[in-house]
Amino acid sequence: MKILLDTANLEDIKYFNTYYPIEGVTTNPTILSAEGGDVIALLMQIREIIGKDKELHVQVTEEDFDRIMLEAKALVSLLGNNTVIKVPVGDVGLKVTKALSSEGYKVTVTAILTGAQAMLASNAGATYVAPYVSRLENICDDGVRCVKDIAKIFEVSKSNTKILAASFKTAREVLDVAIEGAQCATVSSSVMHRLLAHTTTDTSIEGFKKDWLGAFGNTTLLELINLRNK
Ligand code: G3P
Repeated sequence: MKILLDTANLEDIKYFNTYYPIEGVTTNPTILSAEGGDVIALLMQIREIIGKDKELHVQVTEEDFDRIMLEAKALVSLLGNNTVIKVPVGDVGLKVTKALSSEGYKVTVTAILTGAQAMLASNAGATYVAPYVSRLENICDDGVRCVKDIAKIFEVSKSNTKILAASFKTAREVLDVAIEGAQCATVSSSVMHRLLAHTTTDTSIEGFKKDWLGAFGNTTLLELINLRNK
């Protein structure tokens, strides 16, 4: 499962883009509001950091069909072809998805909470649907089950739409949607750290260091090879 980063924080984007295998960055109005300031400059900086080949998902803020179409096209001209337009699911959202996808734009239909919504979004031509896993878990529903249902629906209908699972509070939820068939997930910085961290990994690495030091001191393999080649 491919992983995207769900933040607009420039330091986090620089860090994860350097060290982690992220496929892109996703934003929404809440995420952009958290950073504040000049939001257009911020989006352009994100594009500069991740480069032109990675996906940058940006959600529309207009509400009327014609204005959303103008906004979507302006975003793609500003931020490049690998900009994916996020549209909240709903009647206008479906109309926008049909129109943008028929013109070759990539669309993520977001705020998906049911398999039925995902099915309609896919039929409208969505590139991705973004089911909100934790928001379902928080209302005693089953976010992972929702992703599983969508994966089954898309498999049966041979849909080309991909699942971009979103809204995670735990690393376990991310793992579970990977197991249940999501092709992509977008993950906050804190959950991303938790996907990698493990205390037993830390103690294992400490053990390697201690054993090496005991046997060979501070000399590294590279230094030993260089010595031999002299
Ligand atoms: O990508 C959508 C996501 O940002 C929503 O997450 O944590 O606000 O439920 P959250």
